[in-house]
Amino acid sequence: MERKYLLIIPILLLFGPMSAQKTTPTIKKEAEVMPYDLPPLLITETGKEIETVNDWEGLRRPEIHSYFANQVYGVVPGQLEFHKIEVLDDEPTALGGRAIRKQVNLIFKKEKRSVKMSLLIYLPKNKMKSPVFLAYNFKGNYTVNADPSILINGKKESELSEEELKKFNKNKRGGRTSRWAIDKMINAGYGLVTIDYNNVDPDKNDFSDGIHSLFYKTGQTAPSKNEWGSLSAWAWGMSRIMDFLETEPLIDSKKVILFGHSRLGKTALWAGANDQRFSIVISNNSGCGGAALSRRRFGEKLSDINTNYPHWFAKNFHYFNENETALDVDQHMLIALIAPRPVYVASASQDAWADPNGEFIATKEASPVYRIYGKKALEMEKQPPVNKPFHGTMGYHLRDGKHDVTDYDWEQYIKFANQHFESN
Ligand code: GCU
Repeated sequence: MERKYLLIIPILLLFGPMSAQKTTPTIKKEAEVMPYDLPPLLITETGKEIETVNDWEGLRRPEIHSYFANQVYGVVPGQLEFHKIEVLDDEPTALGGRAIRKQVNLIFKKEKRSVKMSLLIYLPKNKMKSPVFLAYNFKGNYTVNADPSILINGKKESELSEEELKKFNKNKRGGRTSRWAIDKMINAGYGLVTIDYNNVDPDKNDFSDGIHSLFYKTGQTAPSKNEWGSLSAWAWGMSRIMDFLETEPLIDSKKVILFGHSRLGKTALWAGANDQRFSIVISNNSGCGGAALSRRRFGEKLSDINTNYPHWFAKNFHYFNENETALDVDQHMLIALIAPRPVYVASASQDAWADPNGEFIATKEASPVYRIYGKKALEMEKQPPVNKPFHGTMGYHLRDGKHDVTDYDWEQYIKFANQHFESN
């Protein structure tokens, strides 16, 4: 063979697979969305039409759930019990006497490895049992409120090692208060249970640490292709917190509202699909891999998310980069898995990356399952104008503004939860 070919072949071998994944330009305008067909929500793999709750729950729901588990988010490869539960703080007069504050460590252990999940809980006073919002935070419990008694990963400032002190930034105490309307929750009779999502699995492309490493078989260093990425691990964490909340006398575990923003909104939807104990599920600006339809390819696409965050989904999901039509599901089916429980999807008008209209359409397309249960589905043809919320058993709003969580969003979620709990 000629010398030049000998050189070209290895180069092709090296770049061939990459060029196959070359991403297409970002779609930013509705007019650029190409026509697409959604996979059928109510026809089984063998072609049976679903018309009843029994057939949905017995036939179609398990098929869809198993597909999301194996091809999208990844299967959790086993079970793990709590090793220890440590109550670090139980303060009856927090937030100027308006709330009870509890801080608790949930500890998991396998051989020499351990994972510590440090919960911060605020509850309204003088209530026998409170409904709660359960939510991950991005930057640490101490950022959600300026309360100086909030521990840093379960420790007081004076107990931090030098390394931990470097990471902890005093100025960030309460730095994310604007995203956490704790006063509004407490005044409306709701508590908040929150935890830094990095406690469960640090958000980086590294499977040597976090909860995954406690499940490995001997010699294993990363999940297999159909096993859990980080989103599935975070979803698993939510269920373990729920196990704990079921033992907390001051919390009404039948009224736990799962909330998540952005990547944590994707997490909330998947956790809500996995675990029926969450009574309401809220996705705030969750976008690609969350509430937005993948087939629209508007804003963030599968190839973007799998390239920039290769650890979030199961490895199997990477096969669908620039190949969305090969998926047997789309995200409307994830929302439908939450039925008949109330589900709320919120978008923001300046959040094109998360495809607000794609989030709306997915929610609407999940409606047929809610209708089978006789619930009030999202009955509107077109995305509503900004700040005109729809509250049935399904909820939707398009908030004016950017990718964020605001007081406006919380006001809607509290109203939505009130409406649901009062009617039950
Ligand atoms: C990035 C990512 C989104 C994600 C967001 C977030 O923008 O592309 O998919 O939702 O981060 O979690 O903040």
